[in-house]
Amino acid sequence: MLSLDCSRVSPHLDSRAIDAASPLALEALRSLVRREGPGAGMLGWLDLPGTDARDAARMADWGKRVQDENDCLVVIGIGGSYLGARAAIEALPGEARFPVLFAGTNLSPEYHARLIETLAGKRFALCVISKSGATLEPAIALRLARNALAESAGARDASKRITAVTDRDTGILGATAAREGWQTFGIPRNVGGRFSVLSPVGLLPCAAAGIPVADVLEGARTELGRSTRIDASNDAVRYALARHLLHERGAAIEILSTFHPELASFAEWWKQLAGESEGKDGRGLFPASAVMTTDLHSLGQYLQEGSRRLLETFLVAAAPRADIVLDRAGADDDGLDYLAGRSLAEVNRCAFEGTREAHADGGLPVVTIEMPSITPDSLGGLFVFFEVAVAVSARLLGVNPFDQPGVEEYKSRMCRLLGKPQTP
Ligand code: PA5
Repeated sequence: MLSLDCSRVSPHLDSRAIDAASPLALEALRSLVRREGPGAGMLGWLDLPGTDARDAARMADWGKRVQDENDCLVVIGIGGSYLGARAAIEALPGEARFPVLFAGTNLSPEYHARLIETLAGKRFALCVISKSGATLEPAIALRLARNALAESAGARDASKRITAVTDRDTGILGATAAREGWQTFGIPRNVGGRFSVLSPVGLLPCAAAGIPVADVLEGARTELGRSTRIDASNDAVRYALARHLLHERGAAIEILSTFHPELASFAEWWKQLAGESEGKDGRGLFPASAVMTTDLHSLGQYLQEGSRRLLETFLVAAAPRADIVLDRAGADDDGLDYLAGRSLAEVNRCAFEGTREAHADGGLPVVTIEMPSITPDSLGGLFVFFEVAVAVSARLLGVNPFDQPGVEEYKSRMCRLLGKPQTP
């Protein structure tokens, strides 16, 4: 079960202020649960943890078949169409044993040239994920990867190795998939990209990697029950309130710091979730992240003594799933014998606790979110916890959490520069 510790937000924020504001946050949560308020038509993500067991089994079977017939899977998608899958796959190296590569996340010629080189001579399948079916980056990657697949598998076999995850009723990708006979999975119309990790968008790549999707969904269901309780002790609501009230008191940046490098991509998923949901109307915390202890040797100085317009949220796991105990050396020539018999988990824990104390003493408000261990079910719970918390704090901010009008700006300028024909 996740736990939240807001005791170190003081003196920047009094815990009584969180209590006093909780009726507002609970009202925001109530309106979400009742499917009301700004963006009410995009609340289908609240149903995803309850995905039918047969649908979960269908995704698991698909993953098994991909594993049996291929050396690797290439997932093509960008933004909400890949960040959740990558977060889960990297967070669960014990489960995710089958190679999954990601493409369509950039327009770099070097990256794509190397990808095509890597795929040469391999048996691979493609899973293209795009809700709109019209995003340039995955469309270009798909065109390149389809050619590579046709060369290695032959045109007829290639079609059997392509799966499309899209809104089946709109967009060019759904039409192409139907024409070419590709297998398809749908993205519910009422689920936006960054809230889609628990749909086939996130779960199919997980299934191919070897992650038990039923466990992810079970953890998500349990956490959904906790996070949607209309109760002032609800941790997702308290976290939403802490970050919202600190933002009102001048915090401009929230940095999500973890001591588990395997959560680095989870932080990238969270950055999109928070940034696209809240960064509107000149408002919202800028989401940043740090992976410790690596970044203590680059960002540590700033976090300790730089601008104090920061909130630091630590995301940690109590028990690692693998550990190493340090031996006593023959001659104590590295001066580390005082650590002999102690585990790396203990050393890492002391690094976390020491850092948290130092940063709080240095004047940063600090929040801690702790999970028991990084497992498929706890990860499912973590996705839901942050989705609910971000939706509530965006509603507190007075913005629609579920749109992203600003993302269109770069696209229209890029398309004009590329001379894309105007659609009538
Ligand atoms: O959260 C979002 O809606 C976006 O990040 C989209 O996921 C991203 O732009 C990709 O869009 P699409 O899935 O339509 O290709």
